[in-house]
Amino acid sequence: MNRLTLDDLAPGRTFETSFFANDAPGSRFRWRATQLDGRRAPKVVLSDDARIQEGVPCVVRVVHVGKPESATHGHVEVVWDRAASFRVEGVWLDPSVARKLEVLLDSGLNILLDGPQGCGKTTLARAVATQLGMDFVFFNCGAVVEASDFFATIQVRASESGAPVTDFVKTEILEAIERASSDASRRVLVFLDELNRCPEPARNALMPALDSTRRVFHPIENRFLAIPDHVQFVAAINRGRQFSATFGLDAAQLDRFAPLRMTYPPPEEEVKILRRRHPSLAAKVVERVVVVADAVRRSPEIATGLSVRATDEACVYLAHPRFGGGTDDQIRDVLRTSFCLRFDGDADDVTTDAGAVWTIVEQTLRQAE
Ligand SMILES: Nc1ncnc2c1ncn2[C@@H]1O[C@H](COP(=O)(O)OP(=O)(O)O)[C@@H](O)[C@H]1O
Ligand SMILES: [Mg+2]
Repeated sequence: MNRLTLDDLAPGRTFETSFFANDAPGSRFRWRATQLDGRRAPKVVLSDDARIQEGVPCVVRVVHVGKPESATHGHVEVVWDRAASFRVEGVWLDPSVARKLEVLLDSGLNILLDGPQGCGKTTLARAVATQLGMDFVFFNCGAVVEASDFFATIQVRASESGAPVTDFVKTEILEAIERASSDASRRVLVFLDELNRCPEPARNALMPALDSTRRVFHPIENRFLAIPDHVQFVAAINRGRQFSATFGLDAAQLDRFAPLRMTYPPPEEEVKILRRRHPSLAAKVVERVVVVADAVRRSPEIATGLSVRATDEACVYLAHPRFGGGTDDQIRDVLRTSFCLRFDGDADDVTTDAGAVWTIVEQTLRQAE
C-alpha cells in the first residue's frame, strides 16, 4: 500500500527525496535513493545531478524509467528540480511559517513563537534543535522570580558546622553559554518557554542577552560574559484569543524578537498527527474528535485554545480496550472529560466556558452523525 507503482512515476512528475552516495561499482550515477515522497520506489532511484547534496532533502523530477517490464532490474532516473521546503520532523508547520523559520534559524535572530497553548511551540523548538544538531536548553520562564534566576539560583545548604551557607548554582542557560564559549562547534538553542509569564523586571534583565550587546552578567564570577553567535534564543508565549492586556511583553522587548505566529494544525493535518500516534483507532473516530476540537477553537465564545494535547488525550482513551469501538456515546463521554474539564466552570452550566464547550461538543457530534 505504501509502495509507489511504475504508473506513479511518469516522466516529468516530481517527488521529494534525499540521496546517499551510490557505491555500486561501475555505475555512471553518483546518487542513489530508495524512497520518493516517503514511499518506497518500485526500482532504485538514481541520479548524476551535480546539484544534489548527500542527505539534503530535495525535489527531483523523473526523466526515465529503465527496464519497466522487469521486476528485479532497472532504475528510475531523476534530476534535481529544487531544494525541498524546510520541514521539521514530526511537527506540522504552516508552510509560510516554515519558510520564515528556516531563514531566522539561518540568520541567528531571536525568534518568538506566538500561539495558543498546545499548538506545538515546545515540540517545534525541541525538534528544530534535534534536526539541526543543536544542544537544547529548555527554560521555563514561569518559574522566574528575580532577574538573576535566568542564570543562577541560590541554594541554601548546611555547612559542616551546621550553619546555613548559600551557594549560587548555575542554570542550564548559563552552563550552555559557558560551554558554547569554549567550544565553537557546540550550537545551542535556548528555549525560553512562557516568556510572558515572568515578572517584568526579570525579563528586562534578560534583554542585553537578546540585543546586539549579547552579554549576560555572570552572578557567580561577577563579570560580564559574552554570548557567542552560535547560541540562539527561541522564546514562546501562549496567546489564544485573549485580550492583549494579559499579554506582558512591552514593545521594546517584543522588538528584540522576530515573531512567528503559530496556529493549531488544520483538521486534516491534526488527524494525520493523531492517526500516526494511535494507529489502532478507526479514522472516523479520530476525525470526530478533531472536528469537535476545531469547532471549539473556532467558537467566538471560547477565548482560550484547546490544545492538541486534549485531542491526543481523547484518542488515548478511545484507543484503550475499555472504550473499544469508539461509538458516538463513548466519544461524547470522553470529550466531556478531555475537553470540558480544561475550561472553567461546569459542563452542565451553559453560562460557563465548560458548559459552552459541552454545547459545542453535543451539537457538533449530532451534526456529524
Ligand atoms: N503542529 C503540531 N505538529 C505536531 N504535533 C503537535 C503540533 N501541535 C501540537 N502537537 C502535539 O500536541 C502536544 C502539545 O504540544 P506542545 O508543543 O507542548 O504545545 P505548546 O508548547 O504550543 O503549548 C504535543 O504532544 C505535540 O506533539
Ligand atoms: Mg509549551
